[in-house]
Amino acid sequence: MKILKQQSEWRDFRQSQAQSSVGFVPTMGALHAGHMSLVAQARQSNDVVVVSIYINPTQFDQAADLNNYPQLLEQDLAQLQAAGVDAVLLPTYDWIYPDQYTYQLSEHDLSGRFCGAHRPGHFDGVLTVVMKLLNMVGPKRAYFGEKDYQQLHLIKGMAEAFFLPSEIIGCATMREQDGLAMSSRNLRLTAEQRSTAPLLYQVLSDKSSIAEKIQTLESAGFQVEYIEQLDDRLLAAVQLGEIRLIDNVSIGNSSAKQEKVA
Ligand code: PAF
Repeated sequence: MKILKQQSEWRDFRQSQAQSSVGFVPTMGALHAGHMSLVAQARQSNDVVVVSIYINPTQFDQAADLNNYPQLLEQDLAQLQAAGVDAVLLPTYDWIYPDQYTYQLSEHDLSGRFCGAHRPGHFDGVLTVVMKLLNMVGPKRAYFGEKDYQQLHLIKGMAEAFFLPSEIIGCATMREQDGLAMSSRNLRLTAEQRSTAPLLYQVLSDKSSIAEKIQTLESAGFQVEYIEQLDDRLLAAVQLGEIRLIDNVSIGNSSAKQEKVA
């Protein structure tokens, strides 16, 4: 597995694979089974699998969230190696933002709603970095988790709007045995918060009204940012102490059967 930290190294590697189909999984590291399921799908359908690990500062609206974002590079690389990944990109800020983020990509409808209404500038940062990574990597297929449903929706829209040649593939949310959606941020939950956290998925999946769901969650100690419908899914973001959790389910609870348990 090649570990590429410089643009020139990456260009040489990409040129050597000019005839291969590339499957790309962009990540911010602290990899869990959810990420690894994206890697497995990329491995199945492409000649070459490339993963990037880059904690993108422009998508964080809170300095504390950025500073506390888990970093587990050695562990991540071991998992990627075991999964048969061909190359890992570890870009720096100066590589990704030679313009110091003076050029930005914005979407002006969906990105202001749901998570976007609570995290100003978040989706500008996500879309800008994903566009840069897709342009650099030139994948045939790029893989994103459905847990970040709004993000996936916006990235698919961006790919269509800008005629990007890559296929954007959404992959099912991976869950812990107790239903909690896998997320790198789960590592920061205290033991007590970790035992409360699965209630989010349970309540989203039950038959109660949105108002009842909010009440149940708030009574259990969550601060609910929003629970709202997008397409055929119910999306939610909550705070549990300092940790922000998001999740989504198919309307009608059928998702409970569709989604995978690790
Ligand atoms: O979902 C993530 O981990 C990030 O938003 C992404 C897509 C890697 C962009 O930084």
